[in-house]
Amino acid sequence: MIRELRRIQDFVKQELGYETSGHDYTHIMRVVSLAQTILKTEPADEQLVLVAAYLHDVSDDKVTTNPAAKRQAIIGKLIEIGYDQPFINQVFDIIDHMSFSDNLKHHYQLSLEGQIVQDADRLDAIGAIGIARTFYFGGHFGETMYNPHVMPRTNLDKSEYRKRGTVINHFYEKLLKLKDQMNTPTAKKLAEHRQQVMLAFLNEFMDEWNGQA
Ligand code: ADP
Ligand code: NI
Repeated sequence: MIRELRRIQDFVKQELGYETSGHDYTHIMRVVSLAQTILKTEPADEQLVLVAAYLHDVSDDKVTTNPAAKRQAIIGKLIEIGYDQPFINQVFDIIDHMSFSDNLKHHYQLSLEGQIVQDADRLDAIGAIGIARTFYFGGHFGETMYNPHVMPRTNLDKSEYRKRGTVINHFYEKLLKLKDQMNTPTAKKLAEHRQQVMLAFLNEFMDEWNGQA
């Protein structure tokens, strides 16, 4: 691994090592690994993809109460390592616009590098890990696991999306939609299996909820 990336990895480990909503350092490492897989078939700037993958959650308001300070910490670290301003701008263009909630009403045209990081992040939101992270997140933020009388919400904007729902509804409000929103062919392919895992899980969950043996 190039020396700069090792320093960024150390920084992220320090920042997110103790995160407990499902956006911890292990999520970051899975996103980096998925991004590396997607990179094999895309003519993209590898360094930009990996730096953005490492940093994409550090200043997110889900993991910090002071996003502005975290943003400054990221900029400080990138300057210290020796990255120039145009590169830093490209990193923020990705991490500021890649989230699901930011793209609910207006689709932002990400760079190819941004599309790869977005796909990698979204792959880690679905499948078996996606199921686990979603329940973990729901517990962390005090969400109800399931309530058959609460319908999944539709046509959400960012602020509505951020309000509490139920964990099961999150599958219908976001997770099951991600498969069709993947940017790259590699991610589309990987998403197919993960979608089947979630659908099978939801079927089993409903059967057991309804008392079927
Ligand atoms: P983004 O960062 O792309 O806007 P989210 O805010 O949906 O994405 O957060 C990422 C992950 O956190 C989701 O894939 C899911 O696992 C979990 N999560 C987010 N919101 C909820 C929610 N309301 N209930 C349960 N899990 C959630
Ligand atoms: Ni993420």
